[in-house]
Amino acid sequence: MSMTFGWQSPSNIALVKYWGKRDPQLPSNPSISFTLDTCHTQTRATFEAGHGVQVLLNGVDTPSFVPKIEQFIGRIQHRHPWLADYRVTVDTFNSFPHSSGIASSASGLSALALCVVDAAQALGHALPAVDARREASILARLGSGSASRSVYGGLVVWGETHSVPGSHDDYAVVYPHAVHPIFPSFRDVVMLVDVGQKAVSSTAGHALMEGHPFAQQRFAQAHQNIAHLQSILKTGDVWTFLDLVEQEALTLHGLMMSSQPSYILMRPNTLHILEAIRAYRRESRLPIGFTLDAGANVHVLFPAEVEQKAMEFVTQVLAPYAKDGRYMADRVGQGPVPLNEPA
Ligand code: PMV
Repeated sequence: MSMTFGWQSPSNIALVKYWGKRDPQLPSNPSISFTLDTCHTQTRATFEAGHGVQVLLNGVDTPSFVPKIEQFIGRIQHRHPWLADYRVTVDTFNSFPHSSGIASSASGLSALALCVVDAAQALGHALPAVDARREASILARLGSGSASRSVYGGLVVWGETHSVPGSHDDYAVVYPHAVHPIFPSFRDVVMLVDVGQKAVSSTAGHALMEGHPFAQQRFAQAHQNIAHLQSILKTGDVWTFLDLVEQEALTLHGLMMSSQPSYILMRPNTLHILEAIRAYRRESRLPIGFTLDAGANVHVLFPAEVEQKAMEFVTQVLAPYAKDGRYMADRVGQGPVPLNEPA
């Protein structure tokens, strides 16, 4: 007997960044993210008696992805020992190009975690966590830390911090405080500056924080920034929001530049885009800002109410700095949705 479960799960972009971890995949500092919408993964996982893993990526048998999925299944088996008797076929589609430089681990692993939780429930196993979504967040985290945040929509916090009741290192929670309606309307246009392999894997990147001279200060700063966001998010103060989010992004890159070994992950065109955004913000007085992942691409952030002007700026001024003029227009999304129809 085989059973198939399907989920569409989105990527997310951190506003206060998780950078540094300890075993088993626990964060050195809390983080908060916007869950995205258009950048998502659709995964159907089939479980049948047997052993081993098969991965179909965009319909194509992709053995090179098998070790990553096997490692994930291995890491979650202590919570789901039944998996040892099952063969798992993962049929997965990314809405964004694989080579785009957008990490598919958050969307892909959260989608798979949700499928595993469905399978466990269908088999009648009691979940170790209080509910299915929390269990999925824990499992996703064991695959990739930031994936823990993708199981919920909107603003999501992962990592215990004093200003967010219920926050925890093991799983993510929906941001529990008041949020001004301007924030759920936020757009995130991802300018694709460099679409190659990452210069530093996120595992290697997190390891750079061990013994980093600024580590303790940085971890304390992340707690402070999340606490500071409470009044910003409540009042809709987009200006202070963008200042804080940009400072977080540049701190992440500053930490990598001051690591041993050191990495410069921005490219010259990354910097051109950042400068152009700040100049445009000054001149236009429109609330347009940026954040960065651990890479060269720039996430351009702005509320829906300035979308028309912001998109003119993106296409006319920023796109020439992107590789082949490419960008992806995304927005804050509602979180994962189950896929009911057969593949
Ligand atoms: O989840 P990982 O191990 O790929 O690390 C993600 C790290 C950042 O994207 C740079 C920050 C974050 O909080 O997502």
